[in-house]
Amino acid sequence: MLSENVVKLLNGQICKELYSAYLYLDMANYYSDEGLTGFENWFVIQAQEERDHGLLFRQYLLNNGYKVKLLPIDAPPYEYASFAAVLDQVLEHEQLVTASINNIYAAAYADKDFRTMEFLNWFVKEQLEEEKNASDLIKKFELFGKTPQGLYQLDQELGARVYAPPSLVLD
Ligand code: FEO
Repeated sequence: MLSENVVKLLNGQICKELYSAYLYLDMANYYSDEGLTGFENWFVIQAQEERDHGLLFRQYLLNNGYKVKLLPIDAPPYEYASFAAVLDQVLEHEQLVTASINNIYAAAYADKDFRTMEFLNWFVKEQLEEEKNASDLIKKFELFGKTPQGLYQLDQELGARVYAPPSLVLD
C-alpha cells in the first residue's frame, strides 16, 4: 500500500514530466524557427525522454493497483529571449524537477515506503545527469556559441544526438 499522499505526488509527477516534454518541444520549435536544426534535434530527443519519464510514473502507479488521473498541462512559453536564455531556462527547469522528485522521495521515506524509494532511485540519478547535461550545454554555448562558425559546429554536434529509451523498464 502506498499512502494517499505519495500516490497524489506520483500522479502529479506525470503531469510535470509531460509538461517538461511540452516545454522542450516548444524550445525545439523555437530553434527550428531560427534555423538551428541540431539544437532542434537535441530538444526533440529531450522531449521524448520526458514523455518516457511520464509513462514510467504512470506505469508504476498502475503496477501498484492505482488509478491514474491525468491533470491539465500548462502551455509552454512560446517566446524566448535568446539562444542562451533558453539554455538557462533548461537548467532552472531541471532544478525544479529535481526538487519535485526529492519531495516525493521525502514523502516515501517518511512513510517507510521502500518500494517507491527504490523506484525513485533511478530518477534521482537521472536528475543529476539532466542537470549536468544542461550545465555542459550552457558552458559549451558560452565557449563556442558566440561566433557563427562556433555556433555552426555546436549545432552539428547537437544534431548527432540520438534517442535512447530509458534504462529503467517497468513491465
Ligand atoms: Fe524528467 Fe528532465 O526530468
